[in-house]
Amino acid sequence: MDYSFNFKDKTVIITGAERGIGLEIAKGFAKFGANIVVAGIMDEEFPNAEKQIKAEGAECLCVHTDVSKEDDVKALVKTVLEKFSHIDILVNNAGINRQYPAEEMPLDVWQMIFNVNLTGTFLMCREVGKVMLERGKGNIVNVASMSGLVVNPLPQTQCAYNSSKAGVIMLTKVLANEWAQRGVRVNAIAPGFTKTPLTEKRLATPDDPAVKKWIGGTPMNRVAVPEEMVGLVLYYASDMSSYTTGACMAIDGGYTCL
Ligand SMILES: NC(=O)c1ccc[n+]([C@@H]2O[C@H](COP(=O)([O-])OP(=O)(O)OC[C@H]3O[C@@H](n4cnc5c(N)ncnc54)[C@H](O)[C@@H]3O)[C@@H](O)[C@H]2O)c1
Repeated sequence: MDYSFNFKDKTVIITGAERGIGLEIAKGFAKFGANIVVAGIMDEEFPNAEKQIKAEGAECLCVHTDVSKEDDVKALVKTVLEKFSHIDILVNNAGINRQYPAEEMPLDVWQMIFNVNLTGTFLMCREVGKVMLERGKGNIVNVASMSGLVVNPLPQTQCAYNSSKAGVIMLTKVLANEWAQRGVRVNAIAPGFTKTPLTEKRLATPDDPAVKKWIGGTPMNRVAVPEEMVGLVLYYASDMSSYTTGACMAIDGGYTCL
């Protein structure tokens, strides 16, 4: 066991690491020696992500991957194995949200959210999991959400997002159980409100009733910054958490305490 944050020569795939929380997680692993694979759909963000990750001294490979497409996921795994020969850590961070009152939620939007957030996480876990199980070791961290644990107050209406993230938390537990004796651990983080491109437009309007409720309902009375999500991911991915699998911890300024 290596009870440190030492990821030297480890290969880490992070989905949706072109920006936001995923990019900070990628930089966190890069600082501690890992080789980084950014798997996402925003090709225009690849050069910036690559520059920031390489500035931490890491190797970085960006691969266009829509996690909801089985062929893309399979091609990603093949490309990563060709380049690095092994995959040590997978972080399923890609996620999307759309808000509609439940009675008006279009089926295609519901399905799109599930396809990325839950099916995408499943496909990545299945394909990378196979490779890890064959090797007898591997580590998966899923980025769920506190919205998979609790309902957000009105006027925030996001039935598909919350349901998909609750699914991610359950999938984490199911895989943790199935793979616990085969060397693969699976854990999740549940971020609270975090300032990223996903939320920053809304956060820029502090009079928005939803924003007032987010901040007012958080014991720490503020939203998070993406850097605050990194430590727990590194902890889960390291031997420091060697007896932890199937866990989901909220990083939410205390929001889910209430
Ligand atoms: N920002 C928050 O307040 C917050 C709170 C809780 C959970 N989260 C979760 O954290 C994760 C990152 O969110 P963020 O706030 O950084 O958002 P973001 O929009 O900045 O980043 C999401 C990333 O996912 C990628 N992505 C979207 N669809 C994809 C697909 N089909 N295939 C591959 N990649 C795809 C995007 O390209 C982007 O890089 C998401 O899973 C989100 O649900 C965010």
